Amino acid sequence: MEQYAIKGGNPLVGEVEIGGAKNAALAILAASIMTDETVLIENMPDVRDTNVMLQAIESIGGIVERIDRHTVRMSGRAIKDLVIEDDFIKKIRASYYLLGALLGKYKKAQVTLPGGCNIGLRPIDQHIKGFRALGADVRIEHGLIIAEAEKLRGNHIYMDVVTVGATIDVMLAAAMAEGQTIIENAAKEPHVVDVANFLNSMGAMIKGAGTDVIRIKGVSKLHGTEYTIIPDQIEAGTFMFAAAVTKGDVTVKNVIPKHLESISAKLMEIGCEVEESDDAVRVVAAKPLTHTHVKTLPYPGFPTDMQPQITVALGLSKGTSIVTESIFENRFKYVDELTRMGASIKVEGNTAIIDGVNKYTGASISAPDLRAGAALVIAGLAAEGTTVVDDIKFIERGYEDFDLKLRSLGAQIEKVNSERELQKFRLKIG
Ligand code: EPZ
Repeated sequence: MEQYAIKGGNPLVGEVEIGGAKNAALAILAASIMTDETVLIENMPDVRDTNVMLQAIESIGGIVERIDRHTVRMSGRAIKDLVIEDDFIKKIRASYYLLGALLGKYKKAQVTLPGGCNIGLRPIDQHIKGFRALGADVRIEHGLIIAEAEKLRGNHIYMDVVTVGATIDVMLAAAMAEGQTIIENAAKEPHVVDVANFLNSMGAMIKGAGTDVIRIKGVSKLHGTEYTIIPDQIEAGTFMFAAAVTKGDVTVKNVIPKHLESISAKLMEIGCEVEESDDAVRVVAAKPLTHTHVKTLPYPGFPTDMQPQITVALGLSKGTSIVTESIFENRFKYVDELTRMGASIKVEGNTAIIDGVNKYTGASISAPDLRAGAALVIAGLAAEGTTVVDDIKFIERGYEDFDLKLRSLGAQIEKVNSERELQKFRLKIG
């Protein structure tokens, strides 16, 4: 099993190029099969989740041509099957986007119930409610969600919770429904806007993405396009916190600073300097970190996908901090692992109370999910001694070349495959 071996203590210094947004890419890939014409997608992250999505699309007859590592040409013209039930698709949560995309285009879809990171209950009732409002019959049978409609008709849909997944999924189906759909209490995340822009570039008529109310005038056909995916807000934020925790000086490049505002604001609050330019953000951690409070919220609030990373930083910050997780109820599972590294954190319900310690110490730990896994790597980079992170397959779901990028900033981190390789790493770093 692959692990990361990390020798902590080096401040991260330098520049790092951020890739395309995984969570935008997943929806955009699904949306790209809604036309029979050719779609060219650039800045596609080469991570496990996007590769699983591409595999799923190929499994139903979608044409996928890899131009280079980050560019893919796709077409939905040869799709022959509207059933996606292979086991591998269960691995990704975003399989639900295929439901919205196929339902929109073919008025029928059957997709295995989604899996994804185990971060709490992840219902899909709002997706189902939205599809039903558009006139689809939706049922769950034998582990599959089956959605079909003779015709999809636009409707007024109020989301009971702010959900990225359901907002995008309903937007996909409504793009090809008859008449106007209005989604109220819509999610405003940058990737919701990116998917809307992508669909509009294919001829959809979507207005208001990025606000609470999205208005969609259905069209009967979508056409080919060329599109570049936005930079990954969470990958960027992860490197920004890596700089803070290792007392480093890192510039994240190829980013949209506006998307990083809530992250930058918290870094400044805890004592970092943050400099923004057009498409880069520099984080300098020259002073000791201090405590703060943070609550995860839908965009433009502080993202739940950055909660483990800020907790790792606050674990090393002077004073007592409080982190409240308001999106997913089970997202503090990594705290046990962090405690093994010396953190002093008490979790009560959806709140973590953190007493900052002077240092972490290296330990053998496991990544419980994608973002928590990345956060534990950051903790290892700051820790005294060697940390071994298990289950890095979770991290590889959403971070491309994580170890390589960290090494380019001066981190001592290597992917190891066996006890022997781990010993070699230990000998090398002394
Ligand atoms: C997306 O998940 C992301 N995943 C998650 O990223 C991210 O944490 C999350 O949005 C929040 O930003 C993908 O884009 C593939 P939601 P999603 O629907 O769509 C409740 C990562 O690390 N809800 O916005 O599943 C839900 O329980 C991953 O990259 C319902 O009640 O999240 C949660 O409390 C992990 N009913 C809240 O809404 C529904 O039908 C927000 O969920 C749908 C959601």
